[in-house]
Amino acid sequence: MGSGSGEKFHALKGVSIEIPDGCIFGVIGRSGAGKSTLVRTINLLERPTSGRVLIDGVDMTTLPAAELREARKGIGMIFQSFNLLSSRTVAGNVAFPLQLAGWSRSAVGDRVRELLELVELTEKRNDYPAQLSGGQKQRVGIARAIAAGPKILLCDEATSALDPQTTRSILELLQEINLKFGLTIVLITHEMSVIREICREVVVLDGGCVVERGTAFEVFTRPGAPVTRELVSGFMAKDLPPQFADMQFFPKPASEDIAAGLNIVLRISFLGDTAASPVISGMIRKCGVDANILYGTIDHIQGVPYGMLVVELSGESSERSAALNYLRNFNLELEVIGYVRRNASVAV
Ligand SMILES: Nc1ncnc2c1ncn2[C@@H]1O[C@H](COP(=O)(O)OP(=O)(O)OP(=O)(O)O)[C@@H](O)[C@H]1O
Ligand SMILES: [Mg+2]
Repeated sequence: MGSGSGEKFHALKGVSIEIPDGCIFGVIGRSGAGKSTLVRTINLLERPTSGRVLIDGVDMTTLPAAELREARKGIGMIFQSFNLLSSRTVAGNVAFPLQLAGWSRSAVGDRVRELLELVELTEKRNDYPAQLSGGQKQRVGIARAIAAGPKILLCDEATSALDPQTTRSILELLQEINLKFGLTIVLITHEMSVIREICREVVVLDGGCVVERGTAFEVFTRPGAPVTRELVSGFMAKDLPPQFADMQFFPKPASEDIAAGLNIVLRISFLGDTAASPVISGMIRKCGVDANILYGTIDHIQGVPYGMLVVELSGESSERSAALNYLRNFNLELEVIGYVRRNASVAV
């Protein structure tokens, strides 16, 4: 990809991604991160200057033109801007790729009926795109993209122009076709909520590089890269509420004597089924510390609970060490936020 100065600009660098068959796979990143470029290399709308694009073991970059055209039929695509043909009706839009592929008139009619039923637009079959809402337009886009029965569906910001409720209904439809037809869906978005709703696996792109990958659950609960933390922070109440701004935190004191006069404030993140309260009460009983719960939230990612507690621990330093060791036995994440003076009151 050339840039104005004549120097080579690489929109993607050293990206290596494996997308499991039948998965709903998310690609997230800020504007300009390279998301669209990545997805366009999958069907070779964008030809990589180096590297391979393997689909079912076949390297797309080596295919001659005719075979590439054939292979592309196995890959549907939907866009933020819908890209419908304004002069064709709903049914006409869905029929279009089938007519191009040379399907018989009756086969096209049957298939279009089936698809319009699937996307719940049977009543709108004779309407034109201009008469449709954004959500309805995207349903036409989806019906058209999967008309010829592709194995892969690429979605570039397919819900970005839609309100939250319509977005949810489109995501439900994508989930339905993923389950029904075993379609692999690659979904680009800059909205974490979309990832959280339906993606099983995710990569985070930044500056053309993959900076994070994992299951949606891992990426939400243990974001590593700064850009991921930023994207996630709006969703998970990972950061402390403003009331804590008044609390004076000290770093870990060098001497035990000083530490003895301080309490530890911990952030404990509970993943999945680890229940919070028995762990805390167990720690108090077994380790002789006192725990004051300062703050707590619980959220869900694809139905899996994710909770966070901020706890102030007080006790002798040996008791507090024992408490930290005790907590490390469980499937939870621990972070020492800092040390506070004993009896420093927190107005929460
Ligand atoms: N053909 C091209 N020539 C030169 N630069 C390009 C070309 N296509 C894309 N870019 C640049 O590559 C980078 C990645 O672009 P891309 O469209 O993939 O980003 P994106 O993550 O999809 O962003 P957005 O969220 O805004 O859609 C950008 O800096 C863009 O300006
Ligand atoms: Mg883009």
